[in-house]
Amino acid sequence: MDIAFLLNGERVALTGVAPTATLLDWLRETRGLTGTKEACREGDCGACTVMVTDADGSRALNACILFLPQIHGKAIRTVEGLAAPDGRLHPVQEALIDHHGSQCGFCTPGFAVSMATAHKTGETDLDSALAGNLCRCTGYAPILRAAEAARHAPVPDWIEDDASFFLAEIPSGGADPQDRRGADSPPAFRPATVDALANWYDAHPDATLIAGATDVGLWVTKGLRDLGPVAFLSCCEDLKRIETTETEIRIGAGVTIARLLDLMRAHHPQFARMLTRFGSAQVRAAATLGGNIANGSPIGDSPPALIALGATLHLRKGDTRRALPLEDFFLEYRKQDRAPGEFVEAVTVPRQPDSLRCYKLSKRRDQDISAVLGCFNLTLRDGRIESARIAFGGMAGIPKSAGEVEAALIGRPFTEATLEAALPAFATDFQPMSDMRASAGYRLQAARNMLMRLWHESRNEPADIAEVAP
Ligand SMILES: Cc1cc2nc3c(=O)[nH]c(=O)nc-3n(C[C@H](O)[C@H](O)[C@H](O)COP(=O)(O)OP(=O)(O)OC[C@H]3O[C@@H](n4cnc5c(N)ncnc54)[C@H](O)[C@@H]3O)c2cc1C
Ligand code: FES
Ligand code: FES
Repeated sequence: MDIAFLLNGERVALTGVAPTATLLDWLRETRGLTGTKEACREGDCGACTVMVTDADGSRALNACILFLPQIHGKAIRTVEGLAAPDGRLHPVQEALIDHHGSQCGFCTPGFAVSMATAHKTGETDLDSALAGNLCRCTGYAPILRAAEAARHAPVPDWIEDDASFFLAEIPSGGADPQDRRGADSPPAFRPATVDALANWYDAHPDATLIAGATDVGLWVTKGLRDLGPVAFLSCCEDLKRIETTETEIRIGAGVTIARLLDLMRAHHPQFARMLTRFGSAQVRAAATLGGNIANGSPIGDSPPALIALGATLHLRKGDTRRALPLEDFFLEYRKQDRAPGEFVEAVTVPRQPDSLRCYKLSKRRDQDISAVLGCFNLTLRDGRIESARIAFGGMAGIPKSAGEVEAALIGRPFTEATLEAALPAFATDFQPMSDMRASAGYRLQAARNMLMRLWHESRNEPADIAEVAP
């Protein structure tokens, strides 16, 4: 594939790029930019963080699971590009020195880039901005103090990338960049529109779609898989649309979790709050809603909340579209109702008064996959439970609703006794498995506790670990 991008302010054009070559490998092995570190190679530690800027703004991403075609038309800044050409340090670099924010230094470039990105975007939640960067020896207090100290310094002019680059016609890219790897190579495609994607995927149903690559990236870096034909969705602007009408919210499959989080702040704040614990800032900025649904994981964080909201999934194959309740898409473990050549185009959520409660249980607060995720959408009328939509992740081979628990609640008074009486129904709805995250018994008990947590929250009693901590 042919790609063009800015690297630390300098224009780079590459031809014949292998579609699954990672930015991290290219930076270190081809460019000798070894400041960007390699550690976990699976998006967990942030040592490889780079700043990526385009018309949508700047964000921190993990270069180890970022394929080169995904950076086409964007500006990349590595740690080598944070200081001015004359050697003056970026304010976050100065602050890291002043506040003793580095010991062995291995994590420091990644932290510096995450901090510079937060500084540029004006992010004030620094805990969240840095939760995707792992430091094993300095400790986070000096690093957070450094980030806080640098917060009010002006953004250096040398860090601003030429915005006209994003809008300019890019000779090597554009609407229909063809793969140039020769006749024997599997095809790779970077469609600019959903229509182009639909036609191409219909003709290449065995291809792998790559959206944010936060799952697919690991198939390559950890699974060492050869993906064969691939299509990159990152240039499909119409897949990234959000449309809100009086009756529904339509969210394109290419909308990132970071944008979904912002959207849900206004509609369902507990959904947004739960998404602040989806991976890290780097993961949320890359991961898409479509990828989170299509991968069919039983522990994906968005499906239970969307099922509880009564979401509809919109699928497309060629010119044919169909819609189905999101829950019906998940058939059994890793098996979905999706035909070859069919892809997720959007999700629609009915507009409704907010009563959604989402509880994510994982071993760590940040950057961890759910052991159990419970989402409850109960509506009350005159003290009775008029409707109940309850869905769980981590309790079955698929994201699944709790039909028996719902039935035990609907029409009954909203009292502690009603909720307690519904608890045995969890064992009818779910026969969870034991794995490294939790045992079956623990999962079942945790799910029951989540229903009781909902009750205690409704009485304004502290039920969150952050609320009961001294
Ligand atoms: C460090 C780390 C932390 C993570 N933490 C969480 C977490 O807390 N919660 C969570 O739920 N997940 C988590 N994940 C998993 C991952 O981020 C999500 O599943 C993410 O939403 C996948 O989206 P993506 O755009 O990156 O998908 P990709 O990796 O690009 O694709 C994933 C799958 O979906 C397919 N696909 C993508 N888009 C479409 C489409 N439009 N139509 C049809 N198929 C499509 C791909 O072919 C592939 O099979 C984490 C991952 C990492 C690396
Ligand atoms: S090397 Fe750990 S996130 Fe990239
Ligand atoms: S300074 Fe050593 S890992 Fe952070």
